[in-house]
Amino acid sequence: MEALDERIDRQGSVRFDEFVDLALYGSGGFYASGGGAGRSGADFLTSPEVGPLFGTVVARYLDATWARLGRPEEFVVVEAGAGRGALALAVLAAEPACSGALRYVLVERSPALRARQGEHLSLAEPFVVLGASREHDDVADEPLPAAAGPFVVSLPDLPAEPVTGVVIANELLDNLAFRLLERTDSDWSEVRVTGRSDSLVELLVPTDATTAERAAALAPDATVGERIPLQDSAVDWLRSAREIVDRGAVVVFDYASSTTASLGRRPWGEWVRTYVAHGRGGTPLEWPGRQDVTVEVAVDQLVAVGAPQVDLAQAEWLDANGMAELLDEGRREWEGRAGVGDLAALRARSRVAEAEALTDPTGLGAFRVLEWHQP
Ligand SMILES: C[S@@+](CC[C@H](N)C(=O)[O-])C[C@H]1O[C@@H](n2cnc3c(N)ncnc32)[C@H](O)[C@@H]1O
Repeated sequence: MEALDERIDRQGSVRFDEFVDLALYGSGGFYASGGGAGRSGADFLTSPEVGPLFGTVVARYLDATWARLGRPEEFVVVEAGAGRGALALAVLAAEPACSGALRYVLVERSPALRARQGEHLSLAEPFVVLGASREHDDVADEPLPAAAGPFVVSLPDLPAEPVTGVVIANELLDNLAFRLLERTDSDWSEVRVTGRSDSLVELLVPTDATTAERAAALAPDATVGERIPLQDSAVDWLRSAREIVDRGAVVVFDYASSTTASLGRRPWGEWVRTYVAHGRGGTPLEWPGRQDVTVEVAVDQLVAVGAPQVDLAQAEWLDANGMAELLDEGRREWEGRAGVGDLAALRARSRVAEAEALTDPTGLGAFRVLEWHQP
C-alpha cells in the first residue's frame, strides 16, 4: 500500500489508529477499494445482508419512533456506514407508515461503495432532503411545504444540519480507527507500526502521561502484557451523531463488550478481528488494504458521551420491535404454501431462516443494540 509506505517513510512509524485508517480508507484501502458486506463475492455478512427481515424490523422501530415524536411531516433517518445500501432497500420495501415523511440519508465514507448505492436505490439531490439553507432563503418565515417521501440521498459524511429523526449505524463503530495500548513493567506503551506494507512490524513506545492515566482508569488491574483499545474515533462519531439529532434517537448495532478492562483480560487477537472473502483474515498487520480490520466496541468508552437509554442484545431488541409477529406470519405462510412452492412460500421460508441467523446467540443475536434518546 503506497499510502501507508509513504506515511511510514515520512514519520518512521504510524500509530495503530493511523494504520487502521489507512488500511481501510486510504488510497488502496480495503473499503476504499470497495470491499465490504454482502453474500457471494463479498467479505462478510452483516444483519442487513442476511435478508430483508432485519430492515423490516428496523422499519417498525422507525414507525414507533416517528409516532413517539408526534408524526413530524419530515422524519430524517441518517444511516451511517450504509455500505451499498442494503438496509435502506429493506426499510423502503417494508413500506413503513412514516414513508411519506421519510427522508433517508445514506452516509458512507467509501466512494466505491457510495457509487454502488445508486444501482438499486433512486437517489435525490441532498437539498431535497436537507433543504436549501433557510438562512439565505427569501421565504425564511414561511416554511416550505413538505413534499411526500420517501426521498433517499447519499452523503460522504454526517449532515451538518440538525435533524428530527434517527441516526442509525450497523457495524460502523467496530470499523472506526482505534489506538492499541499495552501494559508494560513500567507503565503503558503505545503500539505503533513500522516497516514496509508487505512486512509490517510493531513498535512499542512508552505513552505520554495523559494516555497512561486514561489507560489506568479504564483498566486499573491490567497485568503486564495485557492490551486495550482506545476508541476515540467511535466516541467522537457518537458525540457528532447525538449533536445532530435535535429530537429522536441514535441507535447503534455492533459487537461490543461492557468494559475495556474485560477486553484487556482476553487475548487481543480475539477482539481485534480481520475478515476477507467470508472468512477470517491474517494478523492485523498482514495484507493491509486487502482485509477488513475490526475491533469489539468497549461500551464503557462510549458512555463518556452519555449513558444509553436502551442496551439490549440484538435478539432481544428484534423481539421488542415486532420480530416474533413477523416470524409467525412467515411460518403460517410457509405452512400454508409449502405445497405450492411459489415465490411467496420461498420468501416465507427465507424469513424463518433469516430470523434464526439474526438471533443466533453465538453470532448476530449476541450483538448489542444501544439507543440514546433525545430529548
Ligand atoms: C462493516 S461495514 C457495514 C456496512 C453496513 N452498515 C452493513 O451493515 O452491511 C462498515 C461501513 O462503514 C463505512 N464507514 C467507515 N467509517 C465511516 C464514517 N466515518 N462515515 C461513514 N461511513 C463510514 C465503511 O466504509 C463501511 O462501508
